[in-house]
Amino acid sequence: DMEKFLFKFKGYYFNRSSLDIGFIENLDNFEIRENDVFIVTYPKSGTIWFQQLSLIYSEEHRKGTGKRETMDRVPFFEYKTPEMDFEERPSPCLFSTHLPYYLVPSGLKNKKVKIIYVYRNPKDVMCSYFHFAKNVISQFTGTFEEFMKQFLEGRVMGSLWFDHIKGWYEHRSLFNIQFMMYEEMKKDPRGSVLKICKFLEKGLSDEDMDAVVRQAIFENMKDDPLANYDSIIATVFGPNAKGHFLRKGTIGDWKNHLTVEQNERFDKIFQREMKDFPLEFIWD
Ligand code: PPS
Repeated sequence: DMEKFLFKFKGYYFNRSSLDIGFIENLDNFEIRENDVFIVTYPKSGTIWFQQLSLIYSEEHRKGTGKRETMDRVPFFEYKTPEMDFEERPSPCLFSTHLPYYLVPSGLKNKKVKIIYVYRNPKDVMCSYFHFAKNVISQFTGTFEEFMKQFLEGRVMGSLWFDHIKGWYEHRSLFNIQFMMYEEMKKDPRGSVLKICKFLEKGLSDEDMDAVVRQAIFENMKDDPLANYDSIIATVFGPNAKGHFLRKGTIGDWKNHLTVEQNERFDKIFQREMKDFPLEFIWD
């Protein structure tokens, strides 16, 4: 049972360790600068991948001379901000976050701060999460079936997947937000990077674009110590943590996990929850 690792605040589950509760209670007042950028994800939807797109802003990392880790270039808003000197950071500051729409600082609702919401088909999210919870953070020791139940009840960090995506989508008019799909990025990385650059109003030369696309490919990130998080796993999640954030990086791995019965059960819930939801999903 993962619940002892979680902290519930206003109906949303945070990871209890490394959480500054005073900061969380005052999120609403946190002052964001207009040209800061937020990458919003439900866990296991491609956070680390889109964090790597900080390459768009960093010439030195595109050229391979930069030495800063992803977590430093794109700090995790709800967990890292309390320990960093935000005032000292040049703008734009890039953040990533798993927060639901109703917990983000109200400054994000000025419709200027750019928000990229990355979503992934939830069967793959669930499978990725299962491996992560079991192997990387070692917070879960049960079976896949047990994990599926917890995931579908939202008893995981990030709470219920359905609430997260629907909340952000239904309130999109409050924000300056671009929805991006994990699977589209996988199938057409260049097209996706172009779309993001356009949204960010960042013109890149063809050569720079090539560098971004190349360095954000799974195999490259997996081997890149600045991008793969391997070095922080043990320090953040303890000496027993094994496995990698970059595990498989494919579309449709759920087919290797769900039984026919589990798949039908999942589909039924998905259809009920996502009825009339207009965004498309790619399942394989
Ligand atoms: S976390 O813990 O929320 O920050 O995890 P997150 O980074 O959102 O999700 C991890 C999954 O994203 C996959 N990933 C990638 N897939 C394709 N290409 C690239 N470059 C890439 N980078 C990360 C990663 O492998 C995890 O998915 P699974 O299915 O477990 O492999």
